[in-house]
Amino acid sequence: MDIWLDTSNMRMVQKAIRYGILAGVTTNPTIISQSKRSLEDVLEDLLHYQEGPVTAQVTAEDVREMVQQGQMLYSFSNRIIVKVPITQNGLEAIHLLSRQGIPTMATVLFSPHQALMAALAGAEYIAPYLGRLEKSGGDPWKLLISIKQIFQNYQLKTKILGASINSIEHVVNCAEIGIYGITIKDDIFDQLIENQHLTTQGVEKFAHDAKSIETSLLVIQE
Ligand code: E4P
Repeated sequence: MDIWLDTSNMRMVQKAIRYGILAGVTTNPTIISQSKRSLEDVLEDLLHYQEGPVTAQVTAEDVREMVQQGQMLYSFSNRIIVKVPITQNGLEAIHLLSRQGIPTMATVLFSPHQALMAALAGAEYIAPYLGRLEKSGGDPWKLLISIKQIFQNYQLKTKILGASINSIEHVVNCAEIGIYGITIKDDIFDQLIENQHLTTQGVEKFAHDAKSIETSLLVIQE
């Protein structure tokens, strides 16, 4: 499963790279506005510090303007994936952009039929909002299983990137269902790599027992 970061925090990007766990970065207007930096500055850094794709979202609501924004974002770098909210206009914009060879990610997506429409229109990725769906009383796992089945039925190549992930349990559920990947916030990444109690306990016991081993193989030279 590919793991993307949902962030504008370069330190987190560098940290994930240190562990070899970073396939790309997603942003959205909220993340960019919270960074208090210009969109260009954030994108430039995200493209510089890691080698994967970076999503940038269109903000227009009109089809023609969405397409123009998508073209401008893609001209900034061909590693930009243009994120387009899956509104009726967004769907048309996804189709027009993908016909021009500009990769898109259909976002703010909550239902299987939206996923099907996005895939048929040419979206390279879809980003179902799992946490927000759960909060509003929906079942994100039923949604993912349904989308995965639909894409399999028709050999649709659109990748499912689970978004709005709120917990480790969400991460594991996505992995069990077997979607392409997830995008996670900084705190979830930290939770994924933090030491587990039983692991720490086991390591402490090994450290204690290691003191009585006779060897020169494990002696660190200054
Ligand atoms: C996805 O690409 C979105 O940026 C993101 O996952 C939304 O998450 P939120 O519901 O935590 O804002």
